[in-house]
Amino acid sequence: MLVVMSHWSYIALLLLCVAATLQSIESSKYASKPFSRHDKWTQTFNGEYIPIQFYNAMRSAEASKQSLQNQLRNFLEQLQKNLTTSTLLSLIDNTQQNTEHQLTKLYELSVFFYTAADVARFFARDSEIFFEIAKNSSYTLLLQLRQIPATQPTAIKLLLTNYFAEMEFFHVMFSEVIDEALEYTQNILFATQKTFTYYADVQRFILQNWKFKCDIGCCKEYMEFSQLYSSQIFKCAAGHGLDVAFDVFAMTELTSKYVMRQLEFRIQRLFNCFYFGNYEIRCKFLQNAERDFELLFSKIEELEIFFDIKIKNGRVSALRVRRQAQIEEGVLTGVKSYDACIPQDFPHSQMHQSLKRCFYNINEY
Ligand SMILES: *[C@@H]1O[C@H](CO)[C@@H](O)[C@H](O)[C@H]1NC(C)=O
Ligand SMILES: *[C@@H]1O[C@H](CO)[C@@H](O)[C@H](O)[C@H]1NC(C)=O
Repeated sequence: MLVVMSHWSYIALLLLCVAATLQSIESSKYASKPFSRHDKWTQTFNGEYIPIQFYNAMRSAEASKQSLQNQLRNFLEQLQKNLTTSTLLSLIDNTQQNTEHQLTKLYELSVFFYTAADVARFFARDSEIFFEIAKNSSYTLLLQLRQIPATQPTAIKLLLTNYFAEMEFFHVMFSEVIDEALEYTQNILFATQKTFTYYADVQRFILQNWKFKCDIGCCKEYMEFSQLYSSQIFKCAAGHGLDVAFDVFAMTELTSKYVMRQLEFRIQRLFNCFYFGNYEIRCKFLQNAERDFELLFSKIEELEIFFDIKIKNGRVSALRVRRQAQIEEGVLTGVKSYDACIPQDFPHSQMHQSLKRCFYNINEY
């Protein structure tokens, strides 16, 4: 603060330069923001360059990830416990109450899958917002460089231009790798969500329309059937692919946080160097922008390698090429992958005759 006060007149001069520089900023989005020049320069000394939205979006996405993981945790144990048939025999004399209890449990099972689908959708939404904001934040940081007063010696201007170009290139690469993470996680989450919703719909439809004969034998058989297919479908829709999606999200989140801090550090350093003058000493890094960004480029390279290993067999690079084709295929991709988890002609083909006799009114879903 003391420094700022003692350089008051210098700041006033800088503000004039900033105002001039701002006029040349093409981004209408940026220019249309309410903008207080004084605040902006105060901000440069507080070092708050990373947009607050970045941290907010990260927090929301992290919370949604947690609730999806919580929702899915211990599913198989819960399923076993809820659909147990061992209590059936011991309560044999209270059949009415007993079957009602079992029907409630079956109903709750469909609620579970609806909820899981919703929670997966929230995570898909929040992680998408986070990835988009990460890209935007890297761009916002890039734009900060344009605030450096334009009235610099030509040699310095050239170095600045070069530095800006390097940072811009980094922004492009960073955005690409974020897009890969985005595409992978969205596809997986969409498929999981579709499978869960479809399976819940089928269960609900059976309970509401097939007119279940609620005797002990039928209850037992249908519960066993539900247990078997629920665990099978769950393992498929929330299995390896979803684990990879969680990992891809977590690693991308970590890298984004690191990248933002590094970019912020670079901008802070740059502002300091122009504020205090003495380019030759303070601005050495300007002379080799490529080297200055080496660490950052290697960080996103690491992320790429992580994707390649996780998603396997260089599928990531294939994805990059196929992206356009996939957009054209559109929803088809999703439909295909959720069909993969629902057995062919479910549930008709999977039910034995003895179980089918437990329904008065079997009709197509
Ligand atoms: C099991 O039952 C509990 C409480 O009745 C319910 O909250 C939970 O969603 C059920 N889980 C499954 C997998 O059906
Ligand atoms: C990111 O920026 C683009 C264009 O600059 C804008 O259209 C989009 O709404 C922004 N996204 C978020 C999530 O802020």
